Amino acid sequence: MSRVALVTGGSRGIGAAISTALKEAGYTVAATYAGNDEAAKSFTESTGIQTYKWNVGSYEESKAGIEKVEADLGPVEVVVANAGITRDAPFHKMTPEQWHEVIDTNLTGVFNTVHPIWPGMRERKFGRIVVISSINGQKGQFAQVNYAATKAGDIGIVKSLAQEGARAGITANAICPGYIGTDMVMAVPEKVRESIIAQIPAGRLGEPEEIARAVLFLVADDASFINGSTITANGGQYFV
Ligand code: CAA
Repeated sequence: MSRVALVTGGSRGIGAAISTALKEAGYTVAATYAGNDEAAKSFTESTGIQTYKWNVGSYEESKAGIEKVEADLGPVEVVVANAGITRDAPFHKMTPEQWHEVIDTNLTGVFNTVHPIWPGMRERKFGRIVVISSINGQKGQFAQVNYAATKAGDIGIVKSLAQEGARAGITANAICPGYIGTDMVMAVPEKVRESIIAQIPAGRLGEPEEIARAVLFLVADDASFINGSTITANGGQYFV
């Protein structure tokens, strides 16, 4: 039986590449999305990957959604917490709403996704958790106090989960993508994006598939000693 993998925000951008790569590697994949029905429908049509709609910022919705996934596909053994949003603004203009929206989705969303699955992983003595953080959680970013806080928080989450899960066969790791050619990065004003690309030694944006590659590495059965780590995939833009 193939392992079941849940990818939040798994129908678009980096998440879609992760879902597809996991499916191609033999996993049974459930991809969640928050709002874009059309994109989810065409993703399912083109890949055969089942999509599920819920707001990762809601614990109740996440718990109910995960129960449905497990009833349909079986126990979730691999979780990729990828769902994320930006609400960029310089700090003096950032509103409490912009702060809370990003915290709820990007940070609380990781808790809401992993927490309902965790007891089953502990019982079965196997689990793989990957949280998609960001270069901006490592270095901070102008106009991203909210986003950078969540992405730095992701690293704290996996370092803690790694210690709690290790004896139960569960690993938790973070990936920090740099600037990848997705809708999120394409929404940055063109002039700003050009100046960002100029700071990337690779001289280009990354591809979503280049992040999916790192996910496959971390979730493999024989990756059991790789735990609590942070993998950077940013074209050489920033080292920690
Ligand atoms: N460093 C220093 N100063 C900067 C700056 C930077 N990176 N970016 C903008 N500024 C300056 C501008 O030059 C401008 O200065 P002046 O007032 O002297 O002209 C000022 O800050 C901007 O002020 P505005 O009032 O014009 O700003 P705004 O309210 O219109 O906001 C913005 C514009 C939201 C900051 C916009 O420039 C933007 O979106 N920037 C990109 C932020 C970014 O990189 N986000 C990452 C998104 S991708 C992602 O998050 C994925 C990932 O994980 C990597």
